[in-house]
Amino acid sequence: MKHTVIARIRRHPGYFFACVLLITTCYSWIMVSCIFIRSVVQLQKLQNGGRNSSGQNPLVLRDTIVEERFSQSQNENTSKLILLWSSLFSGFEFLETGRNTFDHFSCPKRECEITSDRRRLMESDAVLFHLRTMSMTDIPRNRTSHQKWIFFTLEAPPYSHFHGFSFMKDMFNWTMTYRNDSDVVLPYGKVIRNNKSLFNFENLYSVWKRKSEMATWMVSHCNTESDRESYIKELEKFLRVVTFGECGVAVCHINKTNECLNNFSKKFFFYLAFENAICDDYVTEKFFRTLKYDMIPVVFGGGKYSKIAPPGSYIDAISFNSPKELSIYLYNVASNFTLYSQYFKWKFDGYDIYDMPDPCILCEKLHSDFFHVQSVYHDIQKWWVTESHCRKWKNN
Ligand SMILES: *[C@@H]1O[C@H](CO)[C@@H](O)[C@H](O)[C@H]1NC(C)=O
Ligand SMILES: *[C@@H]1O[C@H](CO)[C@@H](O)[C@H](O)[C@H]1NC(C)=O
Ligand SMILES: *[C@@H]1O[C@H](CO)[C@@H](O)[C@H](O)[C@H]1NC(C)=O
Ligand SMILES: *[C@@H]1O[C@H](CO)[C@@H](O)[C@H](O)[C@H]1NC(C)=O
Ligand SMILES: *[C@@H]1O[C@H](CO)[C@@H](O)[C@H](O)[C@H]1NC(C)=O
Ligand SMILES: *[C@@H]1O[C@H](CO)[C@@H](O)[C@H](O)[C@H]1NC(C)=O
Ligand SMILES: *[C@@H]1O[C@H](CO)[C@@H](O)[C@H](O)[C@H]1NC(C)=O
Ligand SMILES: *[C@@H]1O[C@H](CO)[C@@H](O)[C@H](O)[C@H]1NC(C)=O
Ligand SMILES: *[C@@H]1O[C@H](CO)[C@@H](O)[C@H](O)[C@H]1NC(C)=O
Repeated sequence: MKHTVIARIRRHPGYFFACVLLITTCYSWIMVSCIFIRSVVQLQKLQNGGRNSSGQNPLVLRDTIVEERFSQSQNENTSKLILLWSSLFSGFEFLETGRNTFDHFSCPKRECEITSDRRRLMESDAVLFHLRTMSMTDIPRNRTSHQKWIFFTLEAPPYSHFHGFSFMKDMFNWTMTYRNDSDVVLPYGKVIRNNKSLFNFENLYSVWKRKSEMATWMVSHCNTESDRESYIKELEKFLRVVTFGECGVAVCHINKTNECLNNFSKKFFFYLAFENAICDDYVTEKFFRTLKYDMIPVVFGGGKYSKIAPPGSYIDAISFNSPKELSIYLYNVASNFTLYSQYFKWKFDGYDIYDMPDPCILCEKLHSDFFHVQSVYHDIQKWWVTESHCRKWKNN
């Protein structure tokens, strides 16, 4: 018997390798599952405040929620510690480790420190989970009861989907996103009226006279959830759109964005600030920074533009019945200076324009009374995905 098996293996080495492969695969799969289950169980245990959860799972580890040594009468000027648990990818210099971030932005409240040193977990007041880089197999094993675990993302839900959402029940205390109903609202930009007019009407007229092209945009993402590309394709049947970026005629180096926009504004009447997703409140910096130039932004997105933009500063593509109707209107505006200049009236009033997220609000919130309020997101998937009401543009 033994002899025949060995003989068979000798004759067909394929069997042997198949067996080894099968065993290795099973083993790896079991190991990965174990790590995953352990993390999830761990997380559930933390969420249940270290109490006995559903039955005795042999994988449950022996950690407990550490009782806080936290007193309400803490000095309001005591520095708050923010731990970046999962890294922010490059380009997010707005949350640098150390104490500098809040000084750089001249924040009203600066007593906050940012760290990425995980050994300081238990002394942290807030733990920031950047959705893009977090992993369900890498969740802290301890949490204190006064600590805020913060769900952080600046991408729209279609670009920040996470397979672990269903395991994140009761995990986060706060949210930090561009959405208006987040605990820490972090929009990509904002405008504030200052009544300091720096605008020159004659100047606008001479700029307008020299313009020769209708619309442009810069885009690196050619196939999007909002289906803006279909909209543009339809629009291009009636109006010339010059596309820059990965999907267009030339790429503007990221360091030269302002120079490119300045050049565009000499030539183009309109800048298409089209978002890659149509979701509630999702308005990116491309809208805010266009306001700094002598071009009218044409917007396409899910934001409440009338609430966040200076009055009469933009044209909303989605409010038109079709790309064709939009094109007719754009020709009207471009050819009539009286009409065109109305879109710049707000500049006479004077506004400061910011086109970066503002980190001050995080430090302020940590020092506010909200910090002492216990709260938790039971179902983060519902809050983030369902309640963002993302949709696609449909040609009808
Ligand atoms: C947890 O459950 C076990 C078994 O059901 C029980 O003996 C133990 O007292 C429980 N511990 C707590 C803290 O409730
Ligand atoms: C906190 O700091 C501010 C200025 O930095 C100071 O005016 C205030 O008195 C301080 N408050 C306490 C309670 O120390
Ligand atoms: C959790 O915190 C306690 C108290 O600080 C510490 O003894 C324990 O080692 C920590 N557990 C882990 C897994 O870090
Ligand atoms: C954000 O929501 C609040 C109410 O929740 C509202 O008062 C405010 O106007 C909203 N802001 C924007 C920019 O939509
Ligand atoms: C700017 O002027 C308007 C109208 O005159 C006034 O309502 C508003 O308070 C002023 N804002 C600032 C920041 O001065
Ligand atoms: C772009 O800017 C970064 C930092 O701001 C710098 O390191 C890099 O060299 C710049 N690249 C070019 C082409 O200027
Ligand atoms: C902007 O325009 C000037 C003058 O035409 C040109 O020299 C420069 O290269 C342009 N900048 C960019 C980034 O295209
Ligand atoms: C230009 O626009 C203004 C303001 O909307 C309007 O009153 C005027 O009739 C327009 N002129 C022409 C020639 O269409
Ligand atoms: C944060 O959420 C956890 C888990 O649900 C909860 O035990 C804790 O009390 C909450 N903490 C705060 C400060 O809201």
